[in-house]
Amino acid sequence: MDKRIKIVAICGSPHRGNTYNILKMLEQSNPEIDFKILMLTELDLQDCSGCYSCINNGEDTCPHKDDRDLIIEAMKDADGTIFASPTYARTISALMKKFVERTSFMAHRPIFFGKYAMALATCAGFGADLTTKYLTENFTQHGFHFVPPVELMVARKTENESNRNQTLATTAYEKLIHAICSEKKIKPSFNQLVYFNIFKYISEWNKLKGWADYEFYRDKNDYYYDVKIPFWKNKLVKWIAGKEIKKMKANTSSEY
Ligand SMILES: Cc1cc2nc3c(=O)[nH]c(=O)nc-3n(C[C@H](O)[C@H](O)[C@H](O)COP(=O)(O)O)c2cc1C
Repeated sequence: MDKRIKIVAICGSPHRGNTYNILKMLEQSNPEIDFKILMLTELDLQDCSGCYSCINNGEDTCPHKDDRDLIIEAMKDADGTIFASPTYARTISALMKKFVERTSFMAHRPIFFGKYAMALATCAGFGADLTTKYLTENFTQHGFHFVPPVELMVARKTENESNRNQTLATTAYEKLIHAICSEKKIKPSFNQLVYFNIFKYISEWNKLKGWADYEFYRDKNDYYYDVKIPFWKNKLVKWIAGKEIKKMKANTSSEY
């Protein structure tokens, strides 16, 4: 890779505390990299009002005019994104959840294919694995390809603990940088193929109400972008998606 690598870290901590300090340490570990930390708490990000407008009518129709798109643009502009959250009550922080909700139209209409990401969580004892699992699963649906997560216990603030965390975090971060530099073509995972078929089906089923999904999917056949999927794999994926759709239809009347 010739140009300077750009990383954006989305930090869901409500203050410049443990999670922020780890991100700052990563920034300082490699000055060659253009590293930007976005503290959600310092941005204008309003609560999702649950109107479905972004999902049904397109993200531009969201009633909130705030910094949501500034964050999305930073993610588009970066080569890699770090989703970082403290573990609060065994999952992501409320602030990070707000960001997840405000961007959930991208689970329907993912755009981050070919982009790498890493989940980072801090905790005092238990649950950082649940936090990184949540972040990885959620943003994989937006198209990101995740490198292994990093889960850090920040409780004692001893030299040992801080050295250990530094090693764990920088090792994981180097994997992210390495993945970006490899410029390897990323193949869709089995789950991503299944999700594609489910969402494409929903987009047709719900088209009177949700034209945004319908428009997005209507010229897409087997996946979000041109990729060769082996015949039998494609058959199997469609069969599994069909079973999920049947279950969904049995539980709903006419709408998703
Ligand atoms: C409201 C709240 C809930 C927490 N819940 C957990 C938890 O479930 N498991 C855990 O190990 N630590 C928990 N912690 C500790 C934090 O995860 C830990 O201190 C983290 O590093 C804080 O990061 P921050 O300084 O960026 O907020 C909690 C802390 C707070 C304030």
